[in-house]
Amino acid sequence: MAYRPYIVGVQEISVEALELLKKGVSGEFLAKKLNISRTAVWKFIKKLESMGYVIEKKRGLGYKIVKSPDLSPYEVASICKNSKFIKEIYYYKVVDSTNQRARELGKSNVLFIAERQLKGRGRYGRVWISKEGGLYFSITLPKLLPLEEVPKITLTTGVAIAKALNGRIKWPNDVLFGGKKICGILCELVGDVENPLIIVGIGINVNNETPEGGISLREIYNREFRRIEVLNNVLESFESYYLRLIGDGWDEIRREWKELSDTLGKYVRIETARGTYEGYAVDIDLDGGLILKNGVKVYSGDCFYLM
Ligand code: BTN
Repeated sequence: MAYRPYIVGVQEISVEALELLKKGVSGEFLAKKLNISRTAVWKFIKKLESMGYVIEKKRGLGYKIVKSPDLSPYEVASICKNSKFIKEIYYYKVVDSTNQRARELGKSNVLFIAERQLKGRGRYGRVWISKEGGLYFSITLPKLLPLEEVPKITLTTGVAIAKALNGRIKWPNDVLFGGKKICGILCELVGDVENPLIIVGIGINVNNETPEGGISLREIYNREFRRIEVLNNVLESFESYYLRLIGDGWDEIRREWKELSDTLGKYVRIETARGTYEGYAVDIDLDGGLILKNGVKVYSGDCFYLM
């Protein structure tokens, strides 16, 4: 099945038009600004209405958006306007998996986002149930650091999101609230050594129903959230932590990871491709590896709390 995205560039003029429409603008001004005909303006208005915008039209005064959907391609492009990492948005109403779309396009600096995923992927081949109301997105990054430093990227993403959502981190980067999972992160490295692409896939429980062991923002705070606001907070945090990481900020990020950790001090079982290890989790090493009290060090794996 082919999933058709709605593609928007963050510097697109229609993003500016949306912002003008939120303030209120005449059709004539908008036509001039966008360098299009009045009929094309009318078509743009219709398109926005089909996306869930409510637009007030007053004779002589023009158009004004009085209600915006809680997520739309233009809203997403608008919050990414000043982003250092995101230049283009691929927005899907429904998709198999945003990480899969990112992998197939193979282009960096793109944000793939979907309202629903049919084959959302979790770590270790698990399924990430992706019902309406959650946030499901993947960001593709160019190589920012030497490839052996990828564990740092994984941990940094966890810190950025835990900070934005006020959560704690279960190694390597599940974000928990009250011991339940509010966000899952799937970092993948694809492409070849010459041309690697880092895909950071993030699933956040916002207003969606959650499976056993999960929790949503709606459940925590007992109200509905505007997904665009959650996305904005998370992307701002993500960007600021990544800029710190590539600008020599790893020591500080590592310290913050330890402060936010739900795992250090616990007796854990870590299942990795090379074997299973048990012991007390005691530290995060300078290279991003998790250190167990018995001296074992692991860089990736599945973590279970044993007591
Ligand atoms: C995990 O905790 O196992 C990781 C879950 C990652 C889910 C996100 S949702 C957006 C992106 N697309 C996917 O298919 N997976 C990630």
